[in-house]
Amino acid sequence: MERKLRVGVIFGGRSGEHEISLRSARSIVDALDRDRYEPVLLGIDPDGRWHLHDAARALLETPGAPLQLDRTAPSVAVSPGGSSTSMVTTQPSAPAVGSLDVVFPVLHGTYGEDGTIQGLLEMADVPYVGSGVLGSAAGMDKDVAKRLLRSAGLPVVDWFVVRSHQNRSPDDVAREVESRFGWPVFVKPANMGSSVGVSKARKAEELAGALAAAFRYDTKVLIERGHAVRELECGVLGNDDPRASVVGEIVPTHEFYSYEAKYLDENGAHLRIPAALTPGQSEEIRRMSVEAFAALELSGLARVDFFMDKTDGALFINEVNTLPGFTSISMYPKLWEASGLPYAELVDRLVHLGLERAATRRGLSTKV
Ligand SMILES: Nc1ncnc2c1ncn2[C@@H]1O[C@H](COP(=O)(O)OP(=O)(O)O)[C@@H](O)[C@H]1O
Ligand SMILES: [Mg+2]
Repeated sequence: MERKLRVGVIFGGRSGEHEISLRSARSIVDALDRDRYEPVLLGIDPDGRWHLHDAARALLETPGAPLQLDRTAPSVAVSPGGSSTSMVTTQPSAPAVGSLDVVFPVLHGTYGEDGTIQGLLEMADVPYVGSGVLGSAAGMDKDVAKRLLRSAGLPVVDWFVVRSHQNRSPDDVAREVESRFGWPVFVKPANMGSSVGVSKARKAEELAGALAAAFRYDTKVLIERGHAVRELECGVLGNDDPRASVVGEIVPTHEFYSYEAKYLDENGAHLRIPAALTPGQSEEIRRMSVEAFAALELSGLARVDFFMDKTDGALFINEVNTLPGFTSISMYPKLWEASGLPYAELVDRLVHLGLERAATRRGLSTKV
């Protein structure tokens, strides 16, 4: 019998999306086929410390319950440059992490989806699921992502950037809004997720509050033309020859798909899979999704989020998520399920795509 692959599942993390990570990770661990995979649970606490969790204990609770982060579990350190000892526990009495064949970084947002953990894993020489450093970082920065998408000929909503060091007054920014596109606008931190720090300003008087909310989270803030939109999402899966899933729709019951609508209100949004679209419209979204994946240099997986203007049907790419929500009821896995790929097979496929990418890269020379 073949040796089981040891799959490190990294969860928790320092981002605002810590909680959703505990849920996503639990669903992934539950789905890993124990005949072929041995999950190794690595939890990152909100202070950024890594802990080796006892899988048997962490999974005692009912299947599907979020993983419990245990701050008393042995600390883990990453040890660069060695394949079998890429991660070590730091207390002498603690069990060893052992060699990891591949890591699934189930972290959303900053210090997870943004290239930082990918860089750490590259240094430690461990294969991992999903996009590399460049793609993860480019996908996370809404301004950089939009510039890359635009230069690939893909449609994005009009925007401009305000930086904290410019110390611009809200009145000055309001004048720029009026000369460029008018009200309403959406104001958002460049690097965030889950709608944290995102607000809608309907008039100049609302801009000061919106700017302050966004600058809490980043030194770079996007001001975007506000459209009345339908929100459509498409999954992409693969490395060099990625495929697109069926298209789904998010129907928020709030004024927009805010943090409250996403996480606090159980009825904050409905998922419609597939979205009610003409075959031509969904084909176009699927095509653009694959093009966006290539434009941002992504691998493994991504969820590409679109806006469709309700007045004229125009399509825009809003953003690309390189580690989308991954609970069994999240949009990305649901889109693949509706495309004929059940959750466990999707997880399996992602692990293999991660191994495949690492194998290709290991074949490259780093010396002259
Ligand atoms: N330009 C826009 N026009 C209309 N609605 C928008 C616009 N920008 C953002 N929104 C609304 O705000 C939500 C969150 O914005 P988004 O850019 O997707 O941030 P996040 O990365 O936090 O999900 C969107 O899902 C949508 O409901
Ligand atoms: Mg979004």
